[in-house]
Amino acid sequence: MKRISILLSIILAFQLSLKAQIYKDKKAPIESRIKDLVSKMNLDEKILQLNQYTAGLNTNVNNIGEATKSIPDGIGSLIYFSADPVWRNEIQKKAMEESRLGIPILFGFDVIHGFRTVYPISLAQACSWDPALVTQAAAIAAKEAKLSGVDWTFSPMIDVARDPRWGRVAEGYGEDPYTNAMFGVATVKGYQGKNLSDPNSIAACLKHFVAYGASEGGRDYRYSDVSMQSLWETYLPPYEACVKAGAATVMSSFNDISGVPGSANPYTLTEILKKRWKHDGFVVSDWDAIAQLINQGVAADRKEAGYKAFMAGVEMDMKDNIYFENFKALIAEKKIPMSKIDDAVSRILRVKFRLGLFDQPYTTVVDESARYLQSESKTIAQKLAAESMVLLKNESKTLPLTASARQIALIGPMAADKSNLLGAWSFNGREYDVESLSEGITKEFGTTAKIDVAKGCDFDGNDESGFSEAISLAKKSDVILVCLGEKKGWSGENASRSTIALPAIQEKFVQELKKTGKPIVLILSNGRPLELVRLEPLADAIIEIWQPGIAGGSALAGILSGRINPSGKLSITFPLTTGQIPTYYNMRQSARPSGNQGDYQDISTQPLYWFGHGLSYTTFDYGIPKLSATKIKKTDKLSVEVEVSNTGNVAGTETVLWYISDPACSISRPMKELKYFDKKELAPGAKTIFKFEIDPNRDLSYVDSNGKRFLESGDYFVIVNNQKMKFEIID
Ligand code: BGC
Repeated sequence: MKRISILLSIILAFQLSLKAQIYKDKKAPIESRIKDLVSKMNLDEKILQLNQYTAGLNTNVNNIGEATKSIPDGIGSLIYFSADPVWRNEIQKKAMEESRLGIPILFGFDVIHGFRTVYPISLAQACSWDPALVTQAAAIAAKEAKLSGVDWTFSPMIDVARDPRWGRVAEGYGEDPYTNAMFGVATVKGYQGKNLSDPNSIAACLKHFVAYGASEGGRDYRYSDVSMQSLWETYLPPYEACVKAGAATVMSSFNDISGVPGSANPYTLTEILKKRWKHDGFVVSDWDAIAQLINQGVAADRKEAGYKAFMAGVEMDMKDNIYFENFKALIAEKKIPMSKIDDAVSRILRVKFRLGLFDQPYTTVVDESARYLQSESKTIAQKLAAESMVLLKNESKTLPLTASARQIALIGPMAADKSNLLGAWSFNGREYDVESLSEGITKEFGTTAKIDVAKGCDFDGNDESGFSEAISLAKKSDVILVCLGEKKGWSGENASRSTIALPAIQEKFVQELKKTGKPIVLILSNGRPLELVRLEPLADAIIEIWQPGIAGGSALAGILSGRINPSGKLSITFPLTTGQIPTYYNMRQSARPSGNQGDYQDISTQPLYWFGHGLSYTTFDYGIPKLSATKIKKTDKLSVEVEVSNTGNVAGTETVLWYISDPACSISRPMKELKYFDKKELAPGAKTIFKFEIDPNRDLSYVDSNGKRFLESGDYFVIVNNQKMKFEIID
């Protein structure tokens, strides 16, 4: 009897020890590991998981009010202001070995458009219309970040933005929901790879949920007056697409969405994200966004702010320490139920398990030379820079430059600049990694032309003392390349501008150069669309190079010489003047569209360059689009084809943008909506067919103000290159 009971207790102890190991057992299903671990955690441990502190020197000037904290072993996450994997591993070792349960810390950082290999800003990336290339760039950014100790990036930003006064327009993919969705998904795929636990994958974070792009007047951190219709139709679709693509996490926004801030909004955070879309990762607040609920007038104090944010669906408190300070009391007061804490902790642990952090918590340490700027990374940086540049104007074939351009005046504040080409959010970018425009151009033309470089003036201010040197160089030249633009801090966070024109000194400089009578090529590097109403008439050609990252110099030089045929098209409209804002291609129809009624009296109502504008050195002819049928049932599919020919003398790449328009619907629809795009290279004289398979449910339906989808019968148009083809949907 005694023997049996000893045997039984041995078996029990064995079973218990096995059970004790479930969360550490690599082979156990993630959900069982989470359940096991949560059951073993005490309240303090759980609450710590819901907090994110910072580690290292915070170099983000906008991240105000940070208190230096020591790092507790059991902290959920750290914003990791470092690129030193050895230091990261030391912190992680403490968490793994000194905390009671050995829960790894999640190291997050803003890897926005590259880590050390800095790519063009996101707004520019979308002008490439090359999501596959963007995926490759994001995959390399992930690899560089991972080798530096980062597990999680606060990117992509998929906030549709239609007000270029808002500095953060640089960080997203422009004015169109579909474009934001496509490039958001491409970026998520690049970061997360096939599997989050792959050695080179990092977790993505969709931000800023939601409607931050509608910040009133383009002023940052402000109210956004968003109707439910706009929320569903414009701001939510990119998030839905990226959630479907498996984005691990989401960041709640600063803005107040029609009275309920994004960081305390149960409708967006719980009803939509978690219930309808079934997102099972977690939501982190934006920096200080929980404490700011007090400023936004929805919480009386920090405790209430924490309560509101958490109950709305924000699982992790970025830096505010509000969850840490207040949750014990809120739980004791039975305001926050334990089940909600357990759910939040489980969501955070789920991401950690998916990343494989429990099984491989440490960063593999390799030498910096093997970590960054590998030749493949540089090639992608160059390709993406070239594909994202947009030839806006090219009068009398000013470009590409011909052999007669023997003497080139390369002038302007951006000509020899490096740092500003990196753009905002490039913390790990190094000026010395950047090829300046003058370096790229000298390499390209150094043997065939004499290149004189002068700054002429600064980006702003009123010092004209450099004008005369630049003008005398311009007078001697065959062509003037004027490199203007914005400093990198003029866009990004907390970088709103009341006018999107360049400062007066830059405009005046070009007016003076114009007097030389020499051809002017305007090269613009900026983080937002610009007001070019005064500059455009002075220029023979204009190239928008955005903030191209490390490889802008050679990409631009290739376009100037004709080695590269430009193929970028705008992902955002350039208004004629700031006063036209908002102006975007997918507006709704005016009630009086003809006879100039409702137009501005003082200026044209047309923007200078529409979304989709971009020139090439060759010409493309479009045939008449052919529909597979003109009448189909709702459940049928329809295809439309168009033949495109390269009618010029050089190879070129064309992106075909396919739009849909529904002229009569139960709710008014945008005049046209982008539904598909495709990009192909064509040799001179070559023809090819571009095809769009229309799926009525996906491409013709609309969403109402409750997020319900409807597909109506009636007439529709498919629009390609301004040709409208009518077809009918029948019941
Ligand atoms: C920004 C976020 C960023 C966070 C962490 C905030 O100020 O709004 O976009 O991810 O800081 O650096």
